Amino acid sequence: MASVTATAGANIALVKYWGKRSLEGNLPAVGSLSITLQALRSRTEVAPAPGLERDDVVLNGRRDEGQARRVVDTLERIRALARDAGVATAPPPAVVRSENNFPTGAGLASSASGFAALVVAAAAAYGLTLAPARLSALARAGSGSAARSIFGGFVEMARGEREDGSDAVARPLLPAADWPLEVVVAITARAEKAVGSTQGMNLTARTSPYWSGWLASQEADLEEARAAVMGRDFERLADVSEFSCLKMHGLAMSARPGLLYWNGATVECLQRIRALRRSGHAVFFTVDAGPQVKAVCAPAHVAPVRDALASVAGVDTLLHTPLGPGAHLLPDGAAPA
Ligand code: PMV
Repeated sequence: MASVTATAGANIALVKYWGKRSLEGNLPAVGSLSITLQALRSRTEVAPAPGLERDDVVLNGRRDEGQARRVVDTLERIRALARDAGVATAPPPAVVRSENNFPTGAGLASSASGFAALVVAAAAAYGLTLAPARLSALARAGSGSAARSIFGGFVEMARGEREDGSDAVARPLLPAADWPLEVVVAITARAEKAVGSTQGMNLTARTSPYWSGWLASQEADLEEARAAVMGRDFERLADVSEFSCLKMHGLAMSARPGLLYWNGATVECLQRIRALRRSGHAVFFTVDAGPQVKAVCAPAHVAPVRDALASVAGVDTLLHTPLGPGAHLLPDGAAPA
């Protein structure tokens, strides 16, 4: 069993996932639609090591018991598959090393790229050849949004109906090259978020009076966004994406106690992006469970968007990325992502 390295890009949802239909298996209460990013990546190495007593997991240079638990659970699932498939009778524990090239835990979906890269590397390291949908289901068990980073470009994640989660998987809608949008990310804070997404989702489902409206309206948003993507209709995608983003945050704010992921700079960025669009620039915003703002734009409009966001007080750094490919293996000794 050799050491295997994989890489995956972060993704951002345009139609948001918020809420779980089952905690067991980490099954989403709603479908979602996302774009996979090229330049915000995880690089994960999995090296099965006979003789090791237990998995040794280092994420961004740190051994953190809480984070490692979910990684070990994912490795256990993959080892069970390897045993069932007869490719290994007693697959040994592994050394796992994973690095992100962007800040962790601040609403930039580091768990998405991390778990997508992990399942691709671990499946190969333990000798399994799995269909993309199987890899997507394995990634989803680690982190809901990770199911989407298995694929590149525009991706749709199904809520699924089955209890075993086999239909709660993502599928590719449109490759990145077919509609080359770009994303400018405004980092407004580098601290780890106060309330993680799982905790936030569960609190929202339990306490928000808007919960049933959220569930009931998701399918229409997905249909709208899917049609916008297939028709390369920027205005239509902008409209439904901002709607879904603000609806998710409105929902989270209506939990008790309310979840407020934004800071002042977040709000100012949203206002600037809307002003740019009113003045004819092809740009819209989205925000995940953190204070960072993602501006999705047509390539010709990146420069004015960067200028506008750079001048917002409280914007610390701007990142810029095209859309990118899905999770994939890296050749031996490849440079860090
Ligand atoms: O994958 P998780 O459990 O970190 O949840 C992601 C939730 C959001 O990023 C806020 C929305 C989404 O669809 O990615």
